[in-house]
Formats: sequence, structure tokens, C-alpha cells
Amino acid sequence: MSRSFVNRLFPVALLVLGVASPVRSQAAAPARDRVALPAPAISTFSLDAALRARRTTRSLTGPALSLGEAAQLLWSAQGENRPGRRTVPSARARYPLDLYLVTEGSPTLAAGTYRYLPGEQALRSVGAKGVAALLGTIKGMQPWIAKSPSVFVVTGTAARMSGSDADARRHYTFWESGAASQALLLQATALGLGSGVASGVDLEAVGTALGLPPEEKVTILLPVGRLIPGERPGQ
Ligand SMILES: Cc1cc2nc3c(=O)[nH]c(=O)nc-3n(C[C@H](O)[C@H](O)[C@H](O)COP(=O)(O)O)c2cc1C
Repeated sequence: MSRSFVNRLFPVALLVLGVASPVRSQAAAPARDRVALPAPAISTFSLDAALRARRTTRSLTGPALSLGEAAQLLWSAQGENRPGRRTVPSARARYPLDLYLVTEGSPTLAAGTYRYLPGEQALRSVGAKGVAALLGTIKGMQPWIAKSPSVFVVTGTAARMSGSDADARRHYTFWESGAASQALLLQATALGLGSGVASGVDLEAVGTALGLPPEEKVTILLPVGRLIPGERPGQ
């Protein structure tokens, strides 16, 4: 069966399975909604080299992230590096963040929208729409984001944080979103990928497109893709 045929078939299959609508509940889903991710690899690329090379690149091309690349990036941003604890610190270990991957054109991951399950190192399919259909249709979307083959969406649920000070809960959530984003961007650089950061779009509309519950807010978009040969990174 050709890959393009599988890619066309997959959204239909999701509809038939009743999982194409955005997900609101955290309840356990049938195994067919899940994509197991490879365990994170240990890179020999130095942290110093990644820090030197990281920059925002807005000309990103495909193919979209392979399953292995997606696994490495998701794990870097929010994965578990010991039981129940993650790569990025969290105030009182309350973990208010969720990470989504919107992608199309990957050789090993069907086009669609996925939610990362850190404890299982797995993805859960939450919709059949890829980047163009999910993000490209949002009013005022920056064109380079809609053209990126893969976009990570970081969300925060400040209500998961403890304490009665609502401002503090929000600040901690945004702090963690920044830490997770930088971890992902450095890992993207180490993998030789181009990446960017964007919050200057209608983040609420992105949340609506994802079908998020009202308490879960989009904090940032992180487009990732291949560098265009001959083009200077950073363009
Ligand atoms: C919170 C935040 C929001 C940003 N939003 C956008 C954006 O909406 N569009 C965009 O093209 N770049 C955006 N950027 C990227 C910045 O423009 C970029 O990081 C800055 O120019 C420095 O360049 P560098 O990342 O290559 O070092 C954002 C960066 C941050 C940290």
C-alpha cells in the first residue's frame, strides 16, 4: 500500500473509529489511539554546540519529523527522566503542561494531531488534521507556521498548580512552558533540525481548534522542520 494512500486513509479511519474530534477527557483510550514512541537516544552532540547553533528559523521544509525525531523532542521537553519526574523542573512537581504535535508528511507518523503521554513515552491521536488544516485555517496565522511540516503546541493548566495565588499559578505555568520550549529547541538543534517559537497568533483560536477545555491554555507554538539547503539558518 503506498504511503500517500495510507495518509489519505488514516483520517477516514480515525473518523470511523470516532477519534477525529478533539479530545477533552484524560480517560484511558483504547490502544488503537496510541502510538508507542521509541525510547530517547543519547546524543553525542554537545550542549555547548546546541546553545551556539540555536536560532529561530522560519523557512522550514519537510519531510516532517520521523517517529524517532518526534520521540526525542517530546521527551526532551516533557519526558520522564526517572519514574514520575520529568526533564524540566516543575513547582511542587505538579506538571501543569501538556504537549501536542501537529504534523503532516512524515515517513513514519501518520498526519494528524497527537497528545504526548510522558509516563508512557507514547502519543495519543486526538484528531486527523495536520498543520495546514488545523492551524492554516486560523485567522491571522503567520504563514511560516502554517507551512511548517510539524508544529508542537505547548499548553498549560494553571489550575493543576497548588496554592491560592492565581497569579503565581499562572507565572509558574509560563515559567515551565519556557523551560520546556528551550529544551525542545536545543534538542531540535542537536538533531540538525530548524525550529522556531511563536506566540504572536490567536492562541485562544489554536486552543479551540484543538478542542481544549477552558482551563487548558495554549502558551506557545514551536514549529520544527528541515533546514532548506543553501539557506542560512535563522531566515
Ligand atoms: C515568547 C516568544 C514569542 C515569539 N513569538 C514569535 C512570533 O509570533 N513570530 C515569530 O516569527 N517569532 C516569534 N518569536 C521569535 C523571536 O522573534 C526570536 O526568538 C528573536 O527574534 C530572537 O531570535 P533567535 O530566536 O533567532 O535568537 C518569539 C519568541 C518568544 C520567546
